[in-house]
Formats: sequence, structure tokens, C-alpha cells
Amino acid sequence: MTRKIAIFDTTLRDGEQSPGASMNSEEKLVITRQLLRLNVDVIEAGFPVSSPGDFKSVQQIAAEVGDRAVVCALTRAVEKDIDSAADALKDCARPRIHTGIGVSHSHIYDKLRTTPEKIIERAVNAVKYAKKYVEDVEFYAEDAGRSDYEFLAKVVQAVIDAGATVVNIPDTTGYSMPDEFGRRIRFLMENVTNVDKASISVHCHNDLGMATALSLAGVQNGATQVECTINGLGERAGNTAMEEVVMALKMHGDELDGHTDINTREFIRASRLVSSITGFVVQPNKAIVGANAFAHSSGIHQDGVIKSRTTYEIIDPKDVGIDDNSIVLTARSGRAALKNRLSMLGVTLDQEKLDKVYEEFLKLADRKKDIHDDDILVLAGADRSGNHRIKLEYLQVTSGVGVRSVASLGLNISGEKFEAAASGNGPVDAAIKALKRIIDRHMTLKEFTIQAISKGSDDVGKVHMQVEYDNQMYYGFGANTDIIAASVEAYIDCINKFTK
Ligand code: KIV
Ligand code: ZN
Repeated sequence: MTRKIAIFDTTLRDGEQSPGASMNSEEKLVITRQLLRLNVDVIEAGFPVSSPGDFKSVQQIAAEVGDRAVVCALTRAVEKDIDSAADALKDCARPRIHTGIGVSHSHIYDKLRTTPEKIIERAVNAVKYAKKYVEDVEFYAEDAGRSDYEFLAKVVQAVIDAGATVVNIPDTTGYSMPDEFGRRIRFLMENVTNVDKASISVHCHNDLGMATALSLAGVQNGATQVECTINGLGERAGNTAMEEVVMALKMHGDELDGHTDINTREFIRASRLVSSITGFVVQPNKAIVGANAFAHSSGIHQDGVIKSRTTYEIIDPKDVGIDDNSIVLTARSGRAALKNRLSMLGVTLDQEKLDKVYEEFLKLADRKKDIHDDDILVLAGADRSGNHRIKLEYLQVTSGVGVRSVASLGLNISGEKFEAAASGNGPVDAAIKALKRIIDRHMTLKEFTIQAISKGSDDVGKVHMQVEYDNQMYYGFGANTDIIAASVEAYIDCINKFTK
């Protein structure tokens, strides 16, 4: 039997640190339920001292999880952070405090302006302080990927002596090369004399696109916990993607001497859920969960797959939750069926919101024959903007080849109606110019992505936009079978965020 590799999910903490990916507490609970379906070992729920919202959210997640997973709260090596984490976790069935400090030259001297001796002292004190509250204390050696091997070993030895049950070796900046990172973990396994008293965890960032390779190198050399996120969400270029590291372990478990207890059939659902809640589009060619991950386009490949799936497919799509028969609802489905499907997807709505989503569902079902889980998630996600001040009332666009596009639209702004028309260089440009005639602010569209969620020309288009206003970036989302309408909705979603 291979070693059990614990999966530590940090979508709700490091993932949420991605600019524009912030989630409200209900959305975090929806994701928590999906993490439980995946059967993760540890859920990092937040950083309680950072805000009252985060504190509350950690409490709610702990209550939701019960004893089904360890719930972890992040702290700096600072007593008030640890007090706050302990308080947020006080009713948690399986609490873990995750405390730590920087250990690289740059963190010691430039960020913390201290000395290596003081770092060890603060690390040990933080672990001992956290131990007063909980048995399970994880220590992170921040920026370990760029630290001195001997010093890192000293820190790890000292925190294990102080009672750390898990020691996290993060490549915080995503700087390392897999070979070297593997050697680093091996060095700790061979030189820290009490290393058998704790487990070693890896937490890798994707700045060079190598987070999965780094994590696997860590596992191959002794780590027994991997920290990761759904879709690789996380600071800057993101974290290790859970779906990648778990599927690699599934395929190469013997070489890596490791297996996980993850229910991989929940990956697609988890990926779509996180994407729809955060508004972060999954690139089509993303490994495991991208829309094209199992699409074969060249004739030679198609011919091969028809003869035998394994000619060009290393993973059975069903193993990650792709099910071509996943059509669930039609125009004849009632409110109860929608509610039931939403609850299977981990989304619970109160009656008022359910009614709104149902109305939208019926409109969509008029335009689109088959309603998939993705469509439902988009409808439920889009409803999050239901209370917004500015709403699109109507939109009419004329466009075509060889003519200039013209758009007219009506907005409802806090109950008052406004109308405008404009021409533009294409239908979206015309519609946004009309919108700007009503809302006259100095705003610039910085990013614009349109994505279809499943298949077919009647599909719902999802639009993500980034709009810069007053030197700040705002993220917006729209979903509609009409992509021009979805684009205008996404733009309005951005505006709603700075005109609250
Ligand atoms: O990347 C990192 O070092 C972290 C720590 C806080 C664990 O996210
Ligand atoms: Zn991180």
C-alpha cells in the first residue's frame, strides 16, 4: 500500500487572495459543501484576524464541516492572530491553527528586518502559544523555497520540538525548480532528527507554471500533505491545482508512493462551481477540468479514440465527473426540481431568491432545450447581483457586415428609468457607448472574456470583465444566451461595485 497523501484545500483562504476572487460567507459555505463531497482532509477556512467577516466565516465553515474534515485557520506568528484563530475555531470538532513566519534572506532582512535567531524564537513561541489552544498546529516556513537549507532545517527541528504536528514548506514565490525543491524536502527528511514526529506539507505557487510539478517532487521526496486549490486559484499565478496533483497521484501512485482519498468524480462540478462563484474563467485547455481537456479535434485522434478511448486519453472522463448524460432539467421542470438540483450542487437559496432564479430558469428554458448543471450554477450565480442598484431593462442592437452597429438600451437606476442610444465599432462597443451616455464616468475596459459553458449555438455565454475606475480594478460577470446582453450585464456588474 502506498502512503496516504493528505489533501489540504486552501481555495477559501489563499484562493480567495486572488485579486477579484473574493467570496461572501454563503458562497464560502457552498464551496465548503463541495469540498466535503470531494472528501478533502483539511479545509483552510480563512485568516480570522484579517476581518470580522473572515472570522465569522471560519466559525460558519467549522459548524458546517463538523467532524468530516480538519478545519484550519491561518495566523502570522503573532499572539493576537493566534487568539483570534483559536476563538474562531473554539467550537470546531477538528481544529488546526496554521501559524508561521518568513525564513528566506529576503523575508528575514527586508520584510521583517530581524535576524535568523529571532525568527526561530518567534516561530517556537508561536507554535507553543497555539498549542495552548489546540493539539493540531501546523507551522509554515514562509518563502522556504528561497531559504538556506541549513537554516530551514534548524527552523523545522525547532518547531517540531515545540509541538508542531505538520510543517509546511511553501514555495511562496513559485521560484523553485522541481528537482531542487525535491532535494530540499529530501534534505529535511534526512537532516531534521525529529522529522518523524510531524508530517511535512508542501504549498507551491505557480509563478513559473510548475506548482503541480513542485508539489509532486515534494511528495516523491517525503512530503505527505499537499496544499492546493480548485482550478489552481490563488495569489498571483495561483497555487497547485488540486485536480492536477490528485489525478497525477492517481495515475502515478506507485512511482510517487502515494494515494489520496479524493472523490475525483466531483472535480468538474467543483471546478465549475468555483469558477461560477468567483467569476474566474477556466482556460479551455486547462488540464483535467478545461472545456477541451477531453475534446479531440484532429481526424487522426478522433479515429483513434473511436477505436479505443485509451489511444489518446490517459484519463476516463467519467473519473473526473464528465458525464454526457448530465442534462437535468427542461422547461417542464418545476420549482421543486430546480431547488433539488441546486441543493445537489451545494447551493441553498431562500424562497425569494429561488423564485427569482426559477423565473430566469423558465426564460432560459424557452431559449435553450437542455438545461445543464452549469447553466443552473450560472443562473444561481447571476442572481447574486439581484439587489444591484443599476439594472438593464432592455437592449436592442442592430449590427451586421458592412454596416455600423447601433444600440439602444434602457437602465433602471434605483427605480428611475434612463434611455440612450449610440453607434459603435461592433455591437458590444455600441451598447457600451450607449451605457456610458447614461453613466458618465471615466472608466476603462481592461479585460473582456466571453465563454460558452457547454455546447450548442443556444448555449449561455458567460462574460467576465475588468473595468478600471479611479485607479482600481473592478470585476464583473454576466450570463445570457445573448452575448451582447451578457457583455452589458458584466459591465453593469462592474459599475455596481463602485457606485454602491
Ligand atoms: O504562500 C505561502 O507561503 C502561504 C503561507 C501563508 C502558507 O500562503
Ligand atoms: Zn500561498
